[in-house]
Amino acid sequence: MKIYIDSSDIKEIKEINKTKLVDGITTNPSLIAKQNKNIKTILKEICNEIKGPVSAEVTAVDCEGMLKEAKILKKIAKNIVIKLPLTFEGLKACKELSAKGIKTNVTLCFSVTQALMAAKSGATYVSPFIGRLDDIGKSGVGLIQDIRKVFDNYKDLKTKILSASIRNVDHVKEVAKAGSDIATIPPKVFHEMYKHELTDKGLKIFLDDWNSTNQKIS
Ligand code: G3P
Repeated sequence: MKIYIDSSDIKEIKEINKTKLVDGITTNPSLIAKQNKNIKTILKEICNEIKGPVSAEVTAVDCEGMLKEAKILKKIAKNIVIKLPLTFEGLKACKELSAKGIKTNVTLCFSVTQALMAAKSGATYVSPFIGRLDDIGKSGVGLIQDIRKVFDNYKDLKTKILSASIRNVDHVKEVAKAGSDIATIPPKVFHEMYKHELTDKGLKIFLDDWNSTNQKIS
């Protein structure tokens, strides 16, 4: 499963990217708003750091407006992916952009039929929101399992499942088990993914034992 980072914060992104484990980035208008910087500046900085796909979301709600914004966003860098809302207008825009070979990420997906519509519109990625479904008492992971099953039934559907609204490491584990192609992970959750208390305890024991030998590896 590919790991994207769900952030618009260049400092956080650069820090995590020291691992070279970042396959891509997703942003959204709420994450951009937190930065207090111009959207183009933010996206340029991110695209200079990350060579994989970087999702940039349109804010127009009509197809024509979305296409206009897509043109502007696309000029920022060659790895920009146009993120569109899963609405009637968003699907129209997706179909047009896909026909031109422009990569798209259809976001705010909460059902299997929505995912199917995004795929039929030629979306490169569809983003089902796990945490927000859990918030209303539904199963976010269940949705990923269902979309995986449906997409696997129809080999002509090439759309990648990009699990979003990930809130914890358990979500990451479960969407990986369900066969999600990608998970977009908030920085805080990324840093929880490699930690384990037994790793810390075990390392301390090893180092204490090693130090008692007074040896050096040289
Ligand atoms: O990128 C969209 C998504 O990941 C939002 O997550 O936590 O605001 O539901 P959240």
